[in-house]
Amino acid sequence: MPGVSQPTSRWEDPAEDAIYRAELAAGSRILRLQDRSVETYRFDPAPYRLAELITELLVEKGFLTAAAAERLDDLTQLHRFLPRTAMTLDTSEVNDVSRSFFDTSPAFEDAYRRWIRDAVVRGVVHADCLFQRAPTIRFHFPHQDGCFWHPRIHNDLMLGHPPQEINVWLPLARTRETSGMRIAPLEPSLALLEAFDHDYARMARSGQDDPDFRRRFQDVSAPVELNYGEFILFEPRCLHAPQYNVTELTRVSLDFRIIPVEDYEAMQLPYRGTGRRRMPFARGAYYDELSALGVGDRARAAPARLNEAQR
Ligand SMILES: [Fe+2]
Repeated sequence: MPGVSQPTSRWEDPAEDAIYRAELAAGSRILRLQDRSVETYRFDPAPYRLAELITELLVEKGFLTAAAAERLDDLTQLHRFLPRTAMTLDTSEVNDVSRSFFDTSPAFEDAYRRWIRDAVVRGVVHADCLFQRAPTIRFHFPHQDGCFWHPRIHNDLMLGHPPQEINVWLPLARTRETSGMRIAPLEPSLALLEAFDHDYARMARSGQDDPDFRRRFQDVSAPVELNYGEFILFEPRCLHAPQYNVTELTRVSLDFRIIPVEDYEAMQLPYRGTGRRRMPFARGAYYDELSALGVGDRARAAPARLNEAQR
């Protein structure tokens, strides 16, 4: 099966494992900021132009002609203008369009940062946060070719993320039924995770091999149906999964994680991604060097000033 990761919640060192259990049980501060583990918020998209910037990048990257971009009413209709090959998933479960958006533009990066600062940090969290340096931009096309597996039921902790994070999911056009992902609230997510004793690898295998497990997830989860101008914040232990998209709507979404600076600084474990690069969930690595409110890392800034004084 291509792309099946073998994540584990176990830390080899027993002392680290005990800390992980405690950090996992404490979860994210998002539960103190909103009533539910998954909550929808509204914002005015006009000042950020995120969907427009994505359309401009589609032209720049050669996926759309300028004339096609003019005719594209909103991003849900993008699949009508693209060749099938651009939308086919490869063995890493990524299509060419999504892959090309690993890089964006300074204008998009600037809009992304301003949006996090305004909508998430000033709007909800009310405390400075670190944020994923570049958001994951997903183009989830209707009836994608190359999909030979069941949607991965997971939470991001299974990919090595710290439990102190807050997940953000922001579609750039409306999502309906299977065009969006499915998500389960915290309580049933924990019940499913506990049934596997937090053995992430076993749960990942069951997501592929066990129809009963998939049915149980289906029963307790719901599709995320949002309009452009809405986003959700959710607790990182919530199980979620993409769906095979049988609508006639392309989904273009940003997903990324933020972590309050205070919680990041109190973190006791060196969390790293389970991917090939073992990305450290650290400032200046997975997280941007600057916080959402534009504050740099004091610990790193100090030696730079010393060096200047020595010159
Ligand atoms: Fe995820």
